[in-house]
Amino acid sequence: MGFNSNNNQNLLSKIATNNGHGENSPYFDGWKAYDSNPYHPTQNPNGVIQTGLAENELCFDLIKEWVVNNPKASICTAEGANEFKDIAIYQDYHGLPEFRKGVAKFMGKVRGDRVTFDPDRIVMSGGATGAHEMLAFCLANPGEAFLVPTPYYAGFDRDLKWRTGVELVPVVCESSNNFKVTKSALEAAFKGAKEANIKIKGLLITNPSNPLGTVLDRETLRIIVSFINEKNIHLVADEIYAATVFNQPSFISIAEIIEEIDCNRNLIHIVYSLSKDMGFPGFRVGIVYSYNDAVTSCARRMSSFGLVSTQTQHMIASMLLDDIFVEKFIAKSAERLAKRHELFTKGLAQVGIGSLKSNAGLFFWMDLRRLLEDSTFESEMALWRVIVHDVKLNVSPGSSFHCSEPGWFRVCFANMDDETMRVALRRIRSFVTAKRQCWQSNLKLSLSFRRLDDIGMAPHMMSPHSPISSPLVRART
Ligand SMILES: Cc1ncc(COP(=O)(O)O)c(C=O)c1O
Repeated sequence: MGFNSNNNQNLLSKIATNNGHGENSPYFDGWKAYDSNPYHPTQNPNGVIQTGLAENELCFDLIKEWVVNNPKASICTAEGANEFKDIAIYQDYHGLPEFRKGVAKFMGKVRGDRVTFDPDRIVMSGGATGAHEMLAFCLANPGEAFLVPTPYYAGFDRDLKWRTGVELVPVVCESSNNFKVTKSALEAAFKGAKEANIKIKGLLITNPSNPLGTVLDRETLRIIVSFINEKNIHLVADEIYAATVFNQPSFISIAEIIEEIDCNRNLIHIVYSLSKDMGFPGFRVGIVYSYNDAVTSCARRMSSFGLVSTQTQHMIASMLLDDIFVEKFIAKSAERLAKRHELFTKGLAQVGIGSLKSNAGLFFWMDLRRLLEDSTFESEMALWRVIVHDVKLNVSPGSSFHCSEPGWFRVCFANMDDETMRVALRRIRSFVTAKRQCWQSNLKLSLSFRRLDDIGMAPHMMSPHSPISSPLVRART
């Protein structure tokens, strides 16, 4: 008797069989397209370039230099091996004191030392992913919700909702005011949730923003803190891109705002990680920093499910407590991000492709609204498919970030070398230029196919370089 996979619905839990992981979204589909045909300058020059991954690879030369100069930081070197046993055995789930000290100091440093963080409040988690889930478990019950300004990081739907049963309610922000988080948008979302009988337990902000690459200004941060105080709901501030700010205006942490205005600090929680600022997503160093004692102790107990390995803590502690290295790293990283961002966005601007003005993050928010057949998410998906499968760039469509307007795409720029970036830039530029030429000659898809018929050529026989087979024509289907 064969096994019927439909039985899984009854055999397994609701969590195991629902789609809460979100793996079927275009955000992950683009990654799959890249995985099955990755670009390589010599071995696969026509492959897909990964511009959908927010990774910071621009400063690994500095990291490598530090690692070579600090062999004692590793327990797998002749210089560090004496510590092997003490690091390998069970550790207290509070984390190594030196690690907490290093992280607290680093968090202060990337905020210009304008605020300090208490090492005793540092709680570990498996990346910011684990930190978000941990906070959701601490702050809300299944069915209760967090407000989240749009567009927001696609992973939040998985991180906050999947295993906790918590819901997310969008706060709709629009391009007309550069996606500003306004009091009226917050009030409208809160009111809408109330009318739908959804209990709002908190507001989740990402500053600097993923996907926008912008920072929240002081006035907006004050509005946000007043709003959550007034409603007596929590504020979770995801600040994992704090050190990626490469131009003015500078980053303002929520930790600074709560020093300036009266608020209930028990409602304030920061999520941090070394995945973006240091470029270490593989180390899974995530942090919950809550100003609420009860949340800190509950989260610490929960951290048993996602501790950072002691070997990693040991190495990170040495690195982050090296002031000279940290200062140099932060400055160089910002400098290189600024240069990359400028090269990419200016290169696109030359062919008329705009992007939202930004000064932070590992990506920019590309505006392709004028290339849509019509202003719908179906057209956005049609264009996205062409960009991924024909232009061979894995960009992420705005709809996967819950953007309220079709035509925006996130482009990551810090996870590749200079040459790959130039190829990516060239590909988008020629795509858009070709598309524009196509419009100028008023070439329409129907006409194209009529012409094919005229010359007795079936579509599958087209040359890969034929203008008729070019992606821009197919984008309009
Ligand atoms: C805003 C935001 N929060 C959280 C995460 C998850 O980070 P981590 O790799 O530390 O789990 C990401 C990753 O892209 C992110 O962009």
